[in-house]
This record gives sequence, C-alpha cells and structure tokens, in this order.
Amino acid sequence: MTDDIIHPAHDGLHYQEVLSALSKKRSVQRYLEIGVCGGQTFAKVSCETAIAIDPYFLLNTNVMFGKKQAFFFQMESDSFFRTTDANRYLGGAPDLVFLDGMHVFEYLLRDFHNVEKFCAKHTLIAIHDCLPLTRTMANRSEEIAREMSKGSFYENWWTGDVWKLVPIIKKYRPDLRIVAVNAPPTGLVFITNLDTQSQVLSDKYLDIVGEFMGESSSKALDSFYETIEIVTTEAILNHFDHSLYFRS
Ligand SMILES: C[S@@+](CC[C@H](N)C(=O)[O-])C[C@H]1O[C@@H](n2cnc3c(N)ncnc32)[C@H](O)[C@@H]1O
Repeated sequence: MTDDIIHPAHDGLHYQEVLSALSKKRSVQRYLEIGVCGGQTFAKVSCETAIAIDPYFLLNTNVMFGKKQAFFFQMESDSFFRTTDANRYLGGAPDLVFLDGMHVFEYLLRDFHNVEKFCAKHTLIAIHDCLPLTRTMANRSEEIAREMSKGSFYENWWTGDVWKLVPIIKKYRPDLRIVAVNAPPTGLVFITNLDTQSQVLSDKYLDIVGEFMGESSSKALDSFYETIEIVTTEAILNHFDHSLYFRS
C-alpha cells in the first residue's frame, strides 16, 4: 500500500481555517462556494453576502454566522451558471470563491471557467483537493477509490482527478497566478489575476478534456509534485506582505 503514496500528509493549517482567516484578512464582502454539503466551510467564511450552490444540501451548522445575507441554490453548478447572474445576487463580483463541487477535472474546469466570468481581476479563487496524497484517492471513480482504499490509512479518501486543473491552467492560462498551499487534508490551490474576458478554456474545452482524460495524463500524477512549489499556510496567512502571494 505504501507504493500508493505520492506525497506525505500536508502539515499546514486545516483548509477551513485558512479560508476563514483569509476571509477576515481580505475583508471579504462577497463569497461564492460551489459544493457546500453540510456547510462547515461556508459557515466559517465571514462576509456580507454569500452564494451557496449544491444539488444536495446537507446543512448541519449555522451557515449564517458572520454574514448579512446568503442565497442557496439547490442545483448543479452547470445549471446555476446557465440560469443565474451571480453578481446580481452578490451585488458585484465575488472577492473569494471556493470550488469544491464534483471532483472530476472536466467539471472543475467548467466551474472555473464559468465563475471566472463573474469575477474581478483580484478575486481569489480557492480550489480544494488538488494535492492528493495517494494514487488511489485520485481515481476518477469515488466507488473505486473507496474499494481500493479499504484497510489503508487513507480509507475512504477521495479527491478525484481535479489535480489536473493545475497542469491545465499552467499550460493554457499562463496569464493566471497559481499558488499551491499545504493545507490538510488534501491541499488548497489559489488562482488570481483573473481575466473575465478570456475564452481560452471554453474554446479549447473539448481538446483539453481529450488531452487530460487519458491514462498517460493520469500517470503524470507520479511526477506532479516535481512540477509545483508548495507554499506553507503560515506564509500565506502571516507573511508581512500578503500581496506577495495574491493581489488584494
Ligand atoms: C466535499 S463536499 C463539499 C464540502 C464543503 N465545501 C466543505 O468544505 O465543507 C462536495 C459537494 O459537492 C456537491 N456536488 C456534487 N456535484 C456537484 C455539482 N455538479 N455542482 C455543485 N455541487 C456538486 C456534493 O453534493 C457535495 O455536497
């Protein structure tokens, strides 16, 4: 089973605490989260106005904590973007976005492209689960990942193959700034310097999906960590100059 491990456990601050701290540090007014489930992360983000999108909410906490208003859309993110003007509800572009919906890369690619249109250049997009720890948890099938992980230390962990968004963005959108962070359990990736007008990811969507769907691109996970630098959550949150990492 140890053969399965591709990276040691991330030892920074938990991703929910990082997003909570960032929302305060950046004085976030408008927040949007895709894939909300019980609302544990959503509840920790402080802001004036928030949008939550999930086809199957399982809210079990005080999601309104620290917020004036929040809008809940119980639908798939694709349907949301087909039908809804996010900025009309938010009252402007979001300051912080968290993408944590369907964990296969082609869905995340659409979520990223669709939400970028509603963002400002300085909006910070955070993405969950892009730094998997084993090959098994990065399987495209949640069922297979669960079955294969039985009895292992990482039993039932599933990130899917959303890590592929990192090489995709690096190749197709070199204009964007990407910062990978050691937030447990499975990392956070931040993207800034957005371009609401860019059509590259939608124009090349089918080519990109074809390119990254194959077996060879899944094998690229073995060398994935050699291609990225991982910044500590401490540096992101405590560095004397926050703008070294993100525009503010
Ligand atoms: C890992 S959970 C989200 C956890 C939450 N972000 C947190 O940190 O507390 C993933 C969620 O994505 C939702 N989801 C699955 N497919 C989706 C889709 N197409 N659009 C939006 N959300 C989706 C699931 O219903 C599930 O609640």
